[in-house]
This record gives sequence, C-alpha cells and structure tokens, in this order.
Amino acid sequence: MGAVYRRAMRKDANRLYDIRRRSIIELALPTMTAAEAQAWAAKLTRAGMEQKLRELDVWVAELDGRAAGWGAFRGEWLEGLYTDPDFACRGVGAGLLGVCERLMCERGIRAVRAEASSNAMAFYLRRGYLANGPQSPNGAWPIAKQLL
Ligand SMILES: CC(C)(COP(=O)(O)OP(=O)(O)OC[C@H]1O[C@@H](n2cnc3c(N)ncnc32)[C@H](O)[C@@H]1OP(=O)(O)O)[C@@H](O)C(=O)NCCC(=O)NCCS
Repeated sequence: MGAVYRRAMRKDANRLYDIRRRSIIELALPTMTAAEAQAWAAKLTRAGMEQKLRELDVWVAELDGRAAGWGAFRGEWLEGLYTDPDFACRGVGAGLLGVCERLMCERGIRAVRAEASSNAMAFYLRRGYLANGPQSPNGAWPIAKQLL
C-alpha cells in the first residue's frame, strides 16, 4: 500500500524528532563522518522540534499506519526532509518532496530553495534541483528548483 500524507500534529513531536535523528545518523553516512552526522543531528532539540511544528508547514508520510518520514517548508524554503531508516528507499522521501512542492506551487511560490546535505545532493539533482551557489562552510549545498 502507498504512503498516506497528512499534516503533522503537536503530538507527533517526539516521533518526528526520533526519525530525524536516526535518519541522519544511519543514512547520512558515508558522505560524512559519524562525528559530523552526530553534530548535525544534535542541532535540533526536542523543544526545537516542537517549535518547528508551530512555525513550519510539516507533513508526515505514514506507511502501514506508522510515521515513516516527514518534510517541512516555510515560504519558498524546504526546511527538512527525513525518512526513518526502517522505511528508506521506498519512495517516502520523494513522495514527501512532491507533497511539499505541490503545496508551495499552490501558494504561488515560483521556485523552491533548500540547503542540501552532501549525502542527499544526488537525490535532489535527480528530482530537478540545481546547485545555485558554492558549498557553504558547514558542507551544505544551496539548491533550487523552478516550480512555475
Ligand atoms: C534523503 C532521504 C530523505 C531519502 O529518503 P528515502 O525515503 O529513502 O527516498 P526515496 O525512497 O524516495 O528515494 C530513494 C532515492 O534516494 C537514494 N538513496 C538511498 N539511500 C540514500 C541515502 N542514504 N542518502 C541519500 N539518498 C539515498 C536511492 O538510491 C533512491 O534513488 P533514486 O533517486 O534513483 O530513486 C533519506 O535518505 C534521509 O532521510 N537521509 C538523511 C537525512 C537527509 O539527508 N535529509 C535531507 C536533508 S537536505
């Protein structure tokens, strides 16, 4: 059965925090070291996740009734995309990206912008994104995709 997409709720905070943390630690390797992945994962606290749920559009993909990943955006910025490693490579990330892009498009946003981590760069390039600047000191790549 395909994924079901729904808006995230406040009560999802702990599960979405855990998905982000595990996705970074388990999926971001080997394009970064374990220490770099740990440092990236530690940038968000549980309180920070609750804040994201208040301030961003956050969407959850459910597979078999379980939250399998989430994507978030604010205005033209894609602010996060994470898949539970247990559900990796089953289309969850691509599906969430499509949901976020469609919602942005409906709101008249002409181009999506994001900061891609090096491990996810190929994933975005295969989905129509282009690099639009040099790699930042923290290793992220500015990318963009025209929607309209
Ligand atoms: C990038 C990410 C969201 C992809 O999620 P997913 O649900 O596995 O993605 P899908 O199943 O839709 O697509 C899988 C594609 O990603 C590729 N892929 C597999 N493992 C990957 C990995 N560890 N990192 C990046 N891409 C990966 C697959 O080869 C597949 O390729 P395709 O483009 O030819 O289809 C997921 O790997 C992840 O959460 N990574 C850690 C957090 C992260 O980097 N987020 C992006 C921040 S900018």
